[in-house]
Amino acid sequence: MTETENNITILGIESSCDETAAAVVRNGREVLSNVISSQIDIHTVYGGVVPEIASRLHCENINGVIRLALKEAGLGFDGIDVIAVTKGPGLVGALLVGVSEAKALAWALHKPLVGVHHIEGHIAANYITHADLEPPYVCLVVSGGHTHLAVIRGYREFELVGRTMDDAAGETFDKVARAVGLGYPGGPKVDRASREGDPHAIEFPRGEVRDHPYDFTFSGLKSAVLNYINMAQMKGEEINTADLCASFQKAVVESLVSRTIRCAESFGIRKVAIAGGVSANSTLRESMREACEAKGMECLYPEPVYCTDNAAMIASAAYFEYLDGVRDDAFLNAEPNLKLGN
Ligand code: KG4
Ligand code: ZN
Repeated sequence: MTETENNITILGIESSCDETAAAVVRNGREVLSNVISSQIDIHTVYGGVVPEIASRLHCENINGVIRLALKEAGLGFDGIDVIAVTKGPGLVGALLVGVSEAKALAWALHKPLVGVHHIEGHIAANYITHADLEPPYVCLVVSGGHTHLAVIRGYREFELVGRTMDDAAGETFDKVARAVGLGYPGGPKVDRASREGDPHAIEFPRGEVRDHPYDFTFSGLKSAVLNYINMAQMKGEEINTADLCASFQKAVVESLVSRTIRCAESFGIRKVAIAGGVSANSTLRESMREACEAKGMECLYPEPVYCTDNAAMIASAAYFEYLDGVRDDAFLNAEPNLKLGN
């Protein structure tokens, strides 16, 4: 397939944390392949991601993952128009594996190179699942390292209106899961345990940031959960893990949903999307949908496989960058602390 204005096939590469991923996506929305090699089993032994191990595993796996992504797409390198890669934010050693690989491929194959912001990739995951989605819309991005509320004005125009003051939503899930002995990664385990629990069993606080209606705070909630566990242990009382998880999850979800709806209402936007690993959470999806329906707003979320880290979302975001003329070169570097909109 050769490049024409309306037919651009992008090989996306993602290695910012603990997934080595490659995908082939046509025109930003049509996924031809999406290969993810997860390192979760190995990091689980240590209770979290070990950066040095993550980098080494990316090195071991990246060529095989790319080869498989091309094979599943039924294409060779000659069928690829653009090489895209996550440039940040993330773990620097992990990012460097993908960035170096992408630079080498682009240089050897004489293909254009586009470095992508990981969070912009998460947002773009919605373009894959919702073929007709166009800006403007409000997007809540909730991942392991970020909690952002943004007004998406255009495919490349992000107005960051809210953020967490302390822990990210996913990080809070992971810490609570560890405290109740569910292990890593916490989000999916808390989600599963909650299904058997009563969300009204324990009243946990919903943190508000005074004078900042779109900002989030989860440290008070996290402390309240840890205090609850300590008190129970001191009194020799058994903890009902399912009730604790369900009550905690309800508190997080209510904070996320209330601010997102408030933002959409104040900005006069009637389309709400969620993205990032925590957007796979069943209660968040359900509550956001219900809240949107009550306000007559449209609610969108990616298929679960495109919520957590993947390379299809990177190739999708890269498409809009590429159309806008973005081209990187051999000086592209990993940027571990990249901010949204940079
Ligand atoms: O977006 P992501 O895959 O990686 C980052 O960019 O950080 O997000 C990972 C985060 C982890 O904290 C994980 O516990 C959380 O997303 N997560 C969930 C669920 N699935 C993943 N949190 C709540 N419920 C889930 N079902
Ligand atoms: Zn991510």
